[in-house]
Amino acid sequence: MRESAAPQRVLFVCLGNICRSPTAEGVFRKLVADRGLEHRIHVDSCGTTNWHRGKPPDPRSVAAARRCGYDLERLRARQLCWEDYYTFDYMLAMDEANLEVLRREAPLDYAGHTGLFLDFAPDLPEREVPDPYYGEGDGFLRVLELVEVASEGLLAELLRHG
Ligand code: 4NP
Repeated sequence: MRESAAPQRVLFVCLGNICRSPTAEGVFRKLVADRGLEHRIHVDSCGTTNWHRGKPPDPRSVAAARRCGYDLERLRARQLCWEDYYTFDYMLAMDEANLEVLRREAPLDYAGHTGLFLDFAPDLPEREVPDPYYGEGDGFLRVLELVEVASEGLLAELLRHG
């Protein structure tokens, strides 16, 4: 990537923006920062609903992330909006249902990439990041594991195509 190139902009999308997509934002943001690439790659997240607008991530996501070295506490939930399509080059959904919303709402002239985040982790058995909200046990840690693998794949893609 050239120094002068416009930053690449990535938006992670889930249902509520309090579990999966803020986890993806926190993990990918740290990966980008650790490589010194913050000026080249911008990261955000949102939900397809407004159910948790303005709220911090779920305490279970915050705790799981903290255990793995990520800080999600300053993030606040927001809903997908029209401007996002004119801002983000990559809009990556955590599951098929939210990808369907992303594509249904897209303006006809959207020129970026919409897809599943786990498309960047082709060696994993999962294609979707499972919703941990109503689940028991280690669902939040599994989200982190999947997100970490896909983040590496996504960064490699951005560096190839930047
Ligand atoms: P997320 O998880 O989409 O990963 O943020 C959920 C958060 C809240 C709800 C469902 C999923 N909810 O039903 O309120």
